[in-house]
Amino acid sequence: MTTQHVDNTTGQIDFVGAGPGDPELLTVAALRAFEAADVVLHDRLISDEVLILAGASAKLVDVGKAGFGPSWDQGDINDLLVAHGQNGNRVVRLKSGDPTVFGRLDEEIEAVEAAGLSWSIVPGITAASAAVAGIGQSLTRRGRNSSIRFLTGHDMKGFADHDWAALARRGEVAAIYMGKKSARFIQGRLIMHGAVRNTPITLVENASRPDQRVLATTLDRLPADLAQADMNGPALTLYGLAPREAVQALTEFNKEHA
Ligand SMILES: C[S@@+](CC[C@H](N)C(=O)[O-])C[C@H]1O[C@@H](n2cnc3c(N)ncnc32)[C@H](O)[C@@H]1O
Repeated sequence: MTTQHVDNTTGQIDFVGAGPGDPELLTVAALRAFEAADVVLHDRLISDEVLILAGASAKLVDVGKAGFGPSWDQGDINDLLVAHGQNGNRVVRLKSGDPTVFGRLDEEIEAVEAAGLSWSIVPGITAASAAVAGIGQSLTRRGRNSSIRFLTGHDMKGFADHDWAALARRGEVAAIYMGKKSARFIQGRLIMHGAVRNTPITLVENASRPDQRVLATTLDRLPADLAQADMNGPALTLYGLAPREAVQALTEFNKEHA
């Protein structure tokens, strides 16, 4: 755990990664911060199995946002963090996965810093790591992809734009967060920029949790298969990757039909 700023006059804010949902995937540092907390402000995606590990006297506050529609204003979350800190509390700001990945972390740090409060970041296991483990693959592989992109399906303006031409090149791999609603948009952009229609795509819903589901599809079939799968939980879209058994089966098939 790295303390970035210290001011001993008031409380302490720890920005803690809760991991993808399986409590076994919490770090020891996260657990310690969690157990010591007076107040825990948590996102909606945090699993009950993780929340139950908070210290018995900790006050839990759900400040979650759902999909496109904000339920808690970011300014209100910042104010609440600062207010609890200024009351001398040890505050854990618990975010799913890793707090530094699509977590609006900087806005909260800036508010806490402006109030002169101490803060730290406790990293966590991001959804991409849990999702790729769930399909027995690697995010990078020698000879296939020497870089990996973390993309968001939507940003503050709507569907997010990316370097589609670069992504459309054969062998590229990307982990797409919040990619369900934008699946058709992403498909259209990639095909328009020359991506091969049978590029493998795998969605992992509820990665690391007991209700994890895997949808193996292709760029061509993505919107139709996604609609049919009816995924309601958080899902990570792995572009350019198929589950390992499927890759092996395809390799065998290609050998047999060569
Ligand atoms: C606001 S982002 C937060 C990402 C988080 N900070 C992380 O590092 O995983 C929320 C998105 O993360 C992904 N996500 C989070 N937890 C997940 C899980 N257990 N399984 C699959 N995707 C997950 C989904 O794409 C979801 O829409």
